[in-house]
Amino acid sequence: MSFIASRLDRIKPSPTIAVTQKAAELKAAGRDVIGLGAGEPDFDTPDFIKDAAILAIQEGQTKYTAVAGTPELRAAISRKFARENGLDYGADQITVGCGGKQVLYNALMATLEPGDEVVIPAPYWVSYPDIALLAEGEPVIVPCGQENAFKLAPADLDAAITPRTKWLILNSPSNPTGAAYTRDDMKALTDVLLGHPHVWVMTDDMYEHILYDGMEFVTPAQVEPALYDRTLTVNGVSKAYCMTGWRVGYAGGPVELIKAINKIQSQSSTHTSSISQAAAAAALDGPQDFIAAHNMVFKERRDIVVAALNQAEGLDCATPEGAFYVYPSCAGTIGKTTPDGKVIESDEDFVTYLLETEGVAAVHGAAFGLSPHFRVSYATSTALLEEACARIQRACAALS
Ligand SMILES: Cc1ncc(COP(=O)(O)O)c(C=O)c1O
Repeated sequence: MSFIASRLDRIKPSPTIAVTQKAAELKAAGRDVIGLGAGEPDFDTPDFIKDAAILAIQEGQTKYTAVAGTPELRAAISRKFARENGLDYGADQITVGCGGKQVLYNALMATLEPGDEVVIPAPYWVSYPDIALLAEGEPVIVPCGQENAFKLAPADLDAAITPRTKWLILNSPSNPTGAAYTRDDMKALTDVLLGHPHVWVMTDDMYEHILYDGMEFVTPAQVEPALYDRTLTVNGVSKAYCMTGWRVGYAGGPVELIKAINKIQSQSSTHTSSISQAAAAAALDGPQDFIAAHNMVFKERRDIVVAALNQAEGLDCATPEGAFYVYPSCAGTIGKTTPDGKVIESDEDFVTYLLETEGVAAVHGAAFGLSPHFRVSYATSTALLEEACARIQRACAALS
């Protein structure tokens, strides 16, 4: 009998974190490695946010806060939901955690009974199924292929719902594909949910601000107000405000659910850092113009990467609407042979080949539940991206 609890057998460590760590280790060992695995902007946290944190320290905001988050931060979040999403969430309808990840974790732990089903469109952010499993739920994976622009088809959603379904998790713009739902797409999904009153929606809006080509951001409770009472709207400051290390995520939802989330959090982390909370409040209330400036750079990089990967033999890369990832298909490389005689049988073989021969670290599609693809994060310098794409083209050309 292992000393480690059997519930851990159900889950695996985050594969995206594993790839980032492997690339860092190879680099430290002297290998020339370009990491395309990172799920965070390469831009620094803006100075006005750092200044707010420094001021919070100097003013002695260094004690425990309310479990749900400081009143100041929850007020800033309430303003953000009203201003940007047309959603009315009062202070008792808002919770703040150590990143959006903890909020999602708390919400699933607080609601799932053993065997409850969670509908998760694939490709998905790697943590959804594992958190659901840890909470003794059953992930129900619905494939959403490139032919569907990686979006959940309303009929597929309808077919996936059973009497045991508790949640649908939506994520737009998406990690790993960058695909985003239009208002019409979203309305078609919320229409399906109207027919299933027992199903709640957990919407992960983490990449809300990272959208291109004038695309409008939409979130379920805004598009269909009738779903407001069964929607948890999750967001955070990690991506748009370049604050991944500060660990602040938040959600708005029905009072009873928020209370349950706070109860779980009161027996784990209590709350995220008081200083990070002050910084997050400043971020949400402060000037937002740097976000558009960052998006211009991201869009330029997206276009470079999509064009270069489409020139690589055996790859097919769709142009995403948002986030900072592309999710090319590597179907055209499967069955080919590497110069040292290995046959590429899966997307995992393909990314291993890229890392070993060209020192390019990307994450295989199987980790996100849809193969044969791989995820490239373009949240890295344009020069490095150009070099990485040239290496990927060379690796593809060397296959026979
Ligand atoms: C889709 C998605 N949701 C949630 C998170 C969690 O972000 P954080 O915990 O930093 O707020 C991430 C981070 O990679 C993400 O990509």
